[in-house]
Amino acid sequence: MRILVTGSSGLVGSHLIAALRAKGHDAIRLVRNAENVDPGEIYWDPEKGELDSAKLEGCNAVVHLAGENIAHKLWTTEQKRKIRNSRIESTKLFAKALSQLSSPPAVFVSASAIGYYGDRGAEEVREKSPIGIGFLASLCREWEEAARPAQQAGIRVVNLRFGIVLSPEGGVLKLMLVPFRLGLGGPLGSGQQYMSWISIFDAVEAIVFCITNDTIKGPVNIVSPSPVTNAEFTKVLATVLGKSASLAVPAGPLRMILKGLADELMLASTRVYPEKLLEADFKYQAPKLEPALRRLMAEFEKNKAGK
Ligand SMILES: NC(=O)c1ccc[n+]([C@@H]2O[C@H](COP(=O)([O-])OP(=O)(O)OC[C@H]3O[C@@H](n4cnc5c(N)ncnc54)[C@H](OP(=O)(O)O)[C@@H]3O)[C@@H](O)[C@H]2O)c1
Repeated sequence: MRILVTGSSGLVGSHLIAALRAKGHDAIRLVRNAENVDPGEIYWDPEKGELDSAKLEGCNAVVHLAGENIAHKLWTTEQKRKIRNSRIESTKLFAKALSQLSSPPAVFVSASAIGYYGDRGAEEVREKSPIGIGFLASLCREWEEAARPAQQAGIRVVNLRFGIVLSPEGGVLKLMLVPFRLGLGGPLGSGQQYMSWISIFDAVEAIVFCITNDTIKGPVNIVSPSPVTNAEFTKVLATVLGKSASLAVPAGPLRMILKGLADELMLASTRVYPEKLLEADFKYQAPKLEPALRRLMAEFEKNKAGK
C-alpha cells in the first residue's frame, strides 16, 4: 500500500514509518520544511495551509499524527493556541483535500487522545462513553470533528484515541527515566489516578490494524487492556530499573508550577478500555505493564549498544 504519514519525525510517526516499510508498504513522509524534502517525500505547511492535493491522488491511506507537542512547554494562552491550531487546522486541511480527490484513499487515520474522556476517577471509559471536561477534552472533540469532511466524502475515518505511548526514546517514559534512574522517582499526587498506557510496538501495530481492517471506523482507544494507577506504574517501573521510588511528589507544588498541564496530564485519572480493538480481535504483544517495560528497556539498551 502507498501510505502517507504526517508527524513522521515524532515518537509514533518514526516507529510507524519503520514498521510500514518493514512490512513492504510504500510509506511516504509529509515534510513541513521545504528545504528538507527528499525525493519521494511530500512538502506541506499546515500553518500556511499549503498542501498540494495532486500529490495525494492514488494513495491508499493517510495517517495524520502531526501536532505541536502537548507536554514540552507550559500551557500559556499562546501555547494552547499552537497545540489546538496545529491539530485542528491541519486536520481540516487534510480532510478537505482528501474529500476533493478524484482517486481518494480508502482510509484517513487521524490522531486524537484519551484526553477526550477527561478526569474520570476509577470509572472505566469506552469509545461510546461521553466526553469529559477540560482543555484536552474539547481539543479532542474538535480534532475528531475536523476529520468529518473526509467521512462525508465516503472515506473511512479512524480517530486514534492514544493513551500514554510508552517508549524510552520519547514521551512520558523518557521524562520519567531520568529521576527514576537516580532513585528519585515516586508517585504523583495521591498516586490513585489511572494511567492508560500502551507500548510503542503495540501502538504501531494497532495503527496498522486500523489501516488494514476495513470494519474499524470512528474513535478507537489505542491503549493496553490493563491500565494501572500511577502508584502501581511507579512501583513496576522502579522494579524494572532495580531502583527504589519512594519520593512522592505532592499535587500542590505540581499544580503551582505546571498549572493546567499538571491537572490534565499528570493528575487526571482516565481508565480506558480498548473495546473496539478487543472486539476486532487485535492481538497485543505486551498487554501487561511489567513485561512491556522489560521489553522496551531491553530493546532500547540493545539499540544503544548497536549504535
Ligand atoms: N505519545 C503519546 O503518548 C500520545 C498520547 C496521546 C496523543 N498523542 C498524539 O498522537 C500524535 C503523535 O504523537 P507523538 O508522540 O508521535 O508526538 P510527537 O513526538 O510530539 O510528534 C509530533 C510530530 O508532529 C509534527 N509537529 C510538531 N510541531 C508541529 C506543529 N506546530 N504543527 C504541525 N506539526 C507539528 C512533528 O513532525 P514533523 O516535523 O515530521 O512534521 C512532530 O515530530 C500527536 O498528535 C499526539 O498529540 C500522543
